[in-house]
Amino acid sequence: MFSQRVEGLRPSPIRSILAVIDRPGMVSFAGGLPATDVLPAWSGTVPPELLQYGPSEGDGDLRSVVSENLRALGIDAPVDRVMILSGSQQGIDLTAKLFVDPGTPVAVDDPTYLAALQVLRFYGARFTHLGTGPTDGSGDDARLAYVVPTFANPTGACMTTAERDNLAQTCVRTGAVLFEDDPYRDLVYEPCDRTPVVSRMRGGSWVYQGSFSKTFAPGLRLGFLAASDDLFRHLVVAKQATDLHSSRLSQRIVHDAITAPGWTDRLAHLVGFYRARRDVFEAALRRHFGDLASWETPRGGLFFWLRLRQPVDTRTLLGEAIERGVAFMPGEEFSPGTPALGTMRLNFSHAGADDVERGLATLATLVAGASTSPSSLYASLG
Ligand SMILES: Cc1ncc(COP(=O)(O)O)c(C=O)c1O
Repeated sequence: MFSQRVEGLRPSPIRSILAVIDRPGMVSFAGGLPATDVLPAWSGTVPPELLQYGPSEGDGDLRSVVSENLRALGIDAPVDRVMILSGSQQGIDLTAKLFVDPGTPVAVDDPTYLAALQVLRFYGARFTHLGTGPTDGSGDDARLAYVVPTFANPTGACMTTAERDNLAQTCVRTGAVLFEDDPYRDLVYEPCDRTPVVSRMRGGSWVYQGSFSKTFAPGLRLGFLAASDDLFRHLVVAKQATDLHSSRLSQRIVHDAITAPGWTDRLAHLVGFYRARRDVFEAALRRHFGDLASWETPRGGLFFWLRLRQPVDTRTLLGEAIERGVAFMPGEEFSPGTPALGTMRLNFSHAGADDVERGLATLATLVAGASTSPSSLYASLG
């Protein structure tokens, strides 16, 4: 009945978890949700022209602002090579549509962004790892390399300058299209090199994308991409065939917000707010998980990545955690292949201090219990 493509289709665990987080009393460390307190209020009226169809590439004024911002980062992104997306998730779909047939080698990190894996699997990607060292040629046949170099989801890691250079050079050398996904770059709590990798490429093909979800409002579903000259027009055609264009009302709201005089202050406030939430979260982590896990303090983004001292498959803990009113993301879900066991992704932006305390205490109890009785856990895996 369905296309062959559907065989690779799996429901996203994160969307299933998000379905239960509205339950009263639920503490969620699961999604990358902004704090509700920092979402914008909107009191505008709707100009009628925004209710009309618009261009697939996006509205000119928003594209211009995005182009200016990207050029300031060193990206070769003139306005006619900038496209507005219906969420940066759409950029993953369009790029995969362009490059991935069943069996196409696609280089990804392990772990990497779950919903990118979901899209790439849907089109039949064969996952590989890009060789970035001079002697490591593995993954050299990759057609596409999907990376989140700055505050990665799920690990929060930020590539060093040398890693960025290496990646840029490897893509140029091997001919892999570099697909840089950069939704977290503005949520920076300690300085680190955030220069876009695509700005370091001398030649080669690339797609760079960002999002308004993490700094403004995910419900508006708006992101953007820029691409090298050889790719851009194909991405536009893929977008035309997908949704014609992104919501013009969302584009106007975002344009007005990011060009308003208060935008820089708003960003600074947001960063301060999330840095404080990160620090509260880490203090609670030390109390509850100090003996159970290790982690690095994320210098940006929205997540802590925990490596448990015991190789507990955290997928087996999720049902019980939700029963007890806490949602988290099992780290094993972020692996393109067979996952290393014993990892968790915990979002620190959404929950307030009391919920963090209660939620982490509950999770730690579950992890400690599982660590001491591994056999019963594996039995429950079937
Ligand atoms: C790495 C990464 N890329 C893309 C997205 C999609 O964001 P959006 O479609 O809301 O712009 C997310 C969302 O969490 C993400 O973490």
